[in-house]
Amino acid sequence: MSRFERQDELNHPRNEVPEFTQLVEKGLSRRRFLGGAAALGAAAFFTVSPLSRAVAAATKASPLMGFAPVPASTKDTITVPAGYQVERLVSWGDPLFGTVPEFSETGNNADAQAGQFGDNNDGMSFFALDDNTAILAVNNEYCNYEIMFPHQGKNMSADDVKCAQAAHGVSIMTLQKQDGRWRLTKDGKYNRRIHANTPMAIGGPAKGHPLLQTAADPKGERALGTFNNCANGMTPWGTYLTCEENFNGYFGSQRDADITPAQARYGIGREDAGWQWHTHDSRFDLAEHPNEANRFGWVVEIDPKDPDSMPVKRTALGRFKHENAELVIDQSGHAVVYLGDDERGEHLYRFVSKHKYNPDDQAANRNLLDEGTLYVAKFHEGQDGELRGKGEWLELTHGKNGLTAENGFASQADVLIHARLAATQVGATTMDRPEWVAAHPHEPVVFCTLTNNKNRGVHDNQPVGGPNPRAENHYGQILRWRPAGGNHTASEFDWDLFVLAGNPTVHGEGLYAGSANINADNMFNSPDGIGFDQGGRLWIQTDGNYSNQGDFAGQGNNQMLCADPNSGEIRRFLTGPVACEVTGLAFTPDYKTLFVGIQHPGEDLAGSHFPLGGNSKPRSSVMMITREDGGIIGA
Ligand code: FEO
Ligand code: CA
Ligand code: CA
Repeated sequence: MSRFERQDELNHPRNEVPEFTQLVEKGLSRRRFLGGAAALGAAAFFTVSPLSRAVAAATKASPLMGFAPVPASTKDTITVPAGYQVERLVSWGDPLFGTVPEFSETGNNADAQAGQFGDNNDGMSFFALDDNTAILAVNNEYCNYEIMFPHQGKNMSADDVKCAQAAHGVSIMTLQKQDGRWRLTKDGKYNRRIHANTPMAIGGPAKGHPLLQTAADPKGERALGTFNNCANGMTPWGTYLTCEENFNGYFGSQRDADITPAQARYGIGREDAGWQWHTHDSRFDLAEHPNEANRFGWVVEIDPKDPDSMPVKRTALGRFKHENAELVIDQSGHAVVYLGDDERGEHLYRFVSKHKYNPDDQAANRNLLDEGTLYVAKFHEGQDGELRGKGEWLELTHGKNGLTAENGFASQADVLIHARLAATQVGATTMDRPEWVAAHPHEPVVFCTLTNNKNRGVHDNQPVGGPNPRAENHYGQILRWRPAGGNHTASEFDWDLFVLAGNPTVHGEGLYAGSANINADNMFNSPDGIGFDQGGRLWIQTDGNYSNQGDFAGQGNNQMLCADPNSGEIRRFLTGPVACEVTGLAFTPDYKTLFVGIQHPGEDLAGSHFPLGGNSKPRSSVMMITREDGGIIGA
């Protein structure tokens, strides 16, 4: 979590909303879970649930994982298992074009940055073109002013703001294989920087709505830019999805801008999160351009194979603080996109396309994400006292479920622009910060990281219970659900918790020790990035407390783990450098190269010199991991 996110939380605490679901804490549930986790050993957690029982092998070492786990680390480097090697692919500031200067330790400018790899790389996707050519599309979520500028952000000029805007967005890079290794191709055919000033189309039901109209775009059909691009998605028709997360913090005003309740629900206020864009670029001044912020908080679709194409904001997927967009083609042929809204007490969403995916005509799929139905999840606690139960998807369609004009929703565009308010209206469950969603490649089962939530059990609208079973949850958990009938378009599902992160060395027993698949050797906190490989291994990345003290003693730096979703076993695969977050993962189609993102090493001037060492500035980087024997990663 960046200092801007912390500041954002202080400036714009999530407003209280009535709780409709009121999942009730059950003492029985916790005691029984506790007994299972603490007393019955490794198999216990996975035998409490029918979901897990159906796939449980439980006690013997996973046949999916063939590497020896690495210990926790506080070193300023990456560690990987024996037999693995890691190299740097690209770092913040590396030029994508021959005419662009190399990264400068003493400070870049906006023009250079617009042609260089952006800062704080996050989610990414690998598009194979042939055996030796590929495109890697990478999100650049935000900047670390304290590292980027000699004045550490304390004396921002208009040029500095432009430079920061150019460091956000997406970097699209041509990769070529040389001597068996993938390398960035400078001036590659597909190289492109998309940033906070890149023209974009607005598509879907909210296109042209008055709330999206501005002085510069009176029709509400063309936005400028994308930023705070957190995680991602990839479509089978070859496009990249980039998700706008904490967009609110880039808007502010030094004047008396009126903040509406809807803006407040999205954390928008006169004080920004420290970016200072509104002081140098009036587009971000809420008093001058109150609708500009409505043009952010969307999922943006990009065609990486056409550098001249205009990205499109897909408003049918709703406006919130988007984490990632996990797209699956349901057995019915519809595209289903699972979407998390990463804020304490916000919600988990699902989009189902109106039309079916056409595998024989990729051009026909180009606007598939413009029409469909958005849903939000409501969880019901099971009756057996275990951490599992049933859930349902509530439709967010104008005219249904109370989404009517008298309740403040005049149209479907209204519902989508204010999806958070609509979710509250229909009674969605408030969650412990939904981060990434990942669907199993071969089974209809879906996982979502709920990273942490200090407000659980503290704020009235966030009661303890259901999939959010711990008050002041600072370790996080991974939720799992199986749609009814194995159909991703079904309206009901069964859920359980795949893992409760915790610290068994600090909390000997109880929910804070974590579930039974957590031990002193694999413990972590704040799961965030997740993704499957084709072998069915679940990869888990963390963005948590790296103090290595108190509740987090022994957990070291942020890390990446690998899990067997069948047995529940979790092994630590990688540890990151000082003060980083590990986020973003992509495999080559042969699963022999894994790209991993190291974000904000040395944030808050914590003293990292990753990746180049010596006295160099710390730089967010995409790393490349292979096996010395050329084998499949993780196997
Ligand atoms: Fe950008 Fe919720 O992480
Ligand atoms: Ca994240
Ligand atoms: Ca996070």
